[in-house]
Amino acid sequence: MENSELKHILVVDDEDVILELFRTLFHEDGYRMTFLREGRDAVDFLRRSHVDLVIADKNLQDMSGIEVAKVAKKVDPLTEVIIITAFASLDTVLAAMELDVYDYMLKPLRNIFDIKKKVRQALAKQDMTLENQRLLRHLQEHARKLEAALEERKRVESELIQSEKLAGIGTLAAGIAHEISSPLFGILGLAEAILDEDDTELARRYAREIVDYSKQIKDIVQELSVYSRTAKHETPSRIDLVRVVEDAVRMVVRSKKTDPAWIRVDLEAGLSLVARPSEIQQTIVNLVKNAVEAVEAGSQSEPLVRVTGRHENDEVVLQVADTGHGISPQQVEQVFDPFFTTKDVGKGTGLGLHIVYRIVTKYGGTIHVDSVEQQGTTFTLRFPAGDG
Ligand SMILES: Nc1ncnc2c1ncn2[C@@H]1O[C@H](COP(=O)(O)OP(=O)(O)OP(=O)(O)O)[C@@H](O)[C@H]1O
Ligand SMILES: [Mg+2]
Repeated sequence: MENSELKHILVVDDEDVILELFRTLFHEDGYRMTFLREGRDAVDFLRRSHVDLVIADKNLQDMSGIEVAKVAKKVDPLTEVIIITAFASLDTVLAAMELDVYDYMLKPLRNIFDIKKKVRQALAKQDMTLENQRLLRHLQEHARKLEAALEERKRVESELIQSEKLAGIGTLAAGIAHEISSPLFGILGLAEAILDEDDTELARRYAREIVDYSKQIKDIVQELSVYSRTAKHETPSRIDLVRVVEDAVRMVVRSKKTDPAWIRVDLEAGLSLVARPSEIQQTIVNLVKNAVEAVEAGSQSEPLVRVTGRHENDEVVLQVADTGHGISPQQVEQVFDPFFTTKDVGKGTGLGLHIVYRIVTKYGGTIHVDSVEQQGTTFTLRFPAGDG
């Protein structure tokens, strides 16, 4: 009865004593064994049947055992081979072994423990190779799944970044509407005045003022559209950080109706970074918005938010520091977690810093927070400066 689980050993030797020796040695060891005298038969057999281990004499009548070994390896590289050789042919066997790793037994075969050990080792080696292959396949499968998950995560992430931005616009909208409404009222008043004005010189002056007011509105709308742009459609480019930071700060000041005197921006001239402008703007907006909110809710006599930026070695270091209420040591660990917020329902989504973290790490940067309760908080961002 054939049992495919049994290890199959093929012994090829033209000496009956040797075949008999192997038969006796292994008959109780639970292997399936085949004995053949001729190399040609062995080659035919190997092409038809699965064999785990070939034990072949180097000097068969019709061919070299090494030829049999080569066929065995060609048919199935996982087949192990042991060559039986006399000391005189050892060099040839060793040379052949270099081509493919297999073992040898030296004639006369006296040490039965050694023979058994070599057979066991050869089969164990095969098991190990099989196990390695299985693990490798398993790993590859895992790697493939991970890659797919990573792709999916990237996709979800860019959607998340975009949604946070849009939600942010919602909370910024009230302030922005307010900001737009004052030049708009100016325009309205001036336009009505022009309708009643006979003095063309005066009408012209009103018209010029209308142009100025309109430019203010245009700037606000433009900032907002940079901010709301989907990063997906932007390619990273070298951006002027001074401008991006100033735009971001202006957006927060405008939307939160903050006293501009609270905020100081101090950036090294010419500071730049390779990134998508809207993502860096979103980062600064989120950090400055948090800082302003912390200062508003805090009790410091001198409310202050400082945004600084400088080159340090090969890094661009941006800091947003405030004199707000600070973060407790227990909560400092959580601030980057999605949906962690200490703000009232409807006030904060708890996504701001999570998004900041995502964006910063995406560019190979790091973010660090230092905070002392009732004194203030500093967020430090480090980006690789990149070439140029
Ligand atoms: N500068 C800061 N000073 C004190 N606490 C801060 C500061 N920045 C963040 N935090 C704390 O971290 C929490 C998470 O901030 P995050 O920006 O992620 O969300 P949020 O500000 O609560 O909500 P959203 O950003 O959607 O308005 C805040 O609720 C606040 O408790
Ligand atoms: Mg926030």
